[in-house]
Amino acid sequence: MTAVSTKVQGVDKGLEHTIASESEMSFIDGAKGILEYVGIPIGDLAQYSSYEEVVYLLWNKKLPTSTELDSFVKEIRDASELPEPMWDVIKQIPIEAAPMAALRTMVSSLSLYDEESEDDSVESNHRKSIRILARVPVLIANFDRHRKHREFIRPDKHLSMAGSFIKMLTGKEPTESMAKALDTCLVLHVDHGLNASTFAAIVTISTLSDMYSAVTTAIGTLKGPLHGGANEAVMRMLQEIGEVDQVQSFIEGKLERKEKIMGFGHRVYKVWDPRAIYLRGFSEQLAADTGNQKLFAMSDAIEKIMEQRVGDRGIHPNVDFYSATTYRSLGLEIDLFTPMFAMSRVAGWAGHCMEQLSDNRIMRPRCAYTGPHEAPYTPIENRG
Ligand code: CMC
Repeated sequence: MTAVSTKVQGVDKGLEHTIASESEMSFIDGAKGILEYVGIPIGDLAQYSSYEEVVYLLWNKKLPTSTELDSFVKEIRDASELPEPMWDVIKQIPIEAAPMAALRTMVSSLSLYDEESEDDSVESNHRKSIRILARVPVLIANFDRHRKHREFIRPDKHLSMAGSFIKMLTGKEPTESMAKALDTCLVLHVDHGLNASTFAAIVTISTLSDMYSAVTTAIGTLKGPLHGGANEAVMRMLQEIGEVDQVQSFIEGKLERKEKIMGFGHRVYKVWDPRAIYLRGFSEQLAADTGNQKLFAMSDAIEKIMEQRVGDRGIHPNVDFYSATTYRSLGLEIDLFTPMFAMSRVAGWAGHCMEQLSDNRIMRPRCAYTGPHEAPYTPIENRG
């Protein structure tokens, strides 16, 4: 008889020291502040690549040739039309709903109108990943139109994902600079190792559930303020502070009360998050171009105080801190910030799910039981 190991290591709270999967997509060195996608530094990709090109890189582990990129982009654009019943699904969502809650429901509903939703072949999962990727921007923008009682706008197949999203959201042709800025944000958010939402996605797919369920799970996980919801929380904090001269007392007060400052700290980075470095410069420029200098000045003042007070503890701005000012300068409403994050991260979630399925084992960690043993059973009439 083979011995079965039941040995459980000590509790790893928050799974900080647990490596739960292997991936060839993003590499993070939290001590040196390095982030690479398939070995290429994030700064180079943010500067020179489009979002679609980076998604190709992550899923195929190589940069595309121009022919490969053209056909990948075409595949995405061709898949962007929503199944017709989805327009009615959007109309049924209460206009007061939070966009992340609406997105969770809309992506889940997409599966009901996909004949392949239960097909778990490699080819089908690739096709579904493309469909989800292509349709999420359509859902986010058109939910926003629905809640504003505006007519729906279908995706524009001549535009990049970022450009088409802007057109659906605003009803206007996107300017080149705005489409490029949004595209850069998408590149910076697309993947980041085994963050909470990606982990949630692969837990779901590891049961051999389906791609839509995995992405729906991930959206629910991204929504929280300790994860993707932090960008909205940063913006609300900036609004609450109101003026640059109020920053000092606001931040000092929070730190004294041992409250967290949103947009700071990271499980992996103990030096500056390289995405935050990029976004800092980017948001400064955008804020100046769009008359949002006060927002940037407040963010800058918060950063300086935080660096002085907690920088030596490895708490620095993360990706969500300067993305708040960036999105605001681009004219996005606050509750669309986290959906923007989701719109990009869909590609990371799908990529990790495809990797997980290529060498799957169900995710099933253990918990350390801390309750009593051999407790007496008390009949209900004797319980006080
Ligand atoms: N402000 C003040 N103190 C902080 C902060 C912060 N933002 N982040 C961590 N700390 C302190 C924390 O209070 C704790 O102190 P002590 O040891 O005295 O109890 C210590 O640093 C360790 O913090 P932790 O919460 O145990 O660290 P973690 O690795 O479990 O959590 C985190 C990481 C990102 C959830 C956390 O830093 C945080 O809550 N930050 C604010 C929310 C945020 O910006 N989230 C976005 C994360 S990055 C992108 C993303 O995933 O979306």
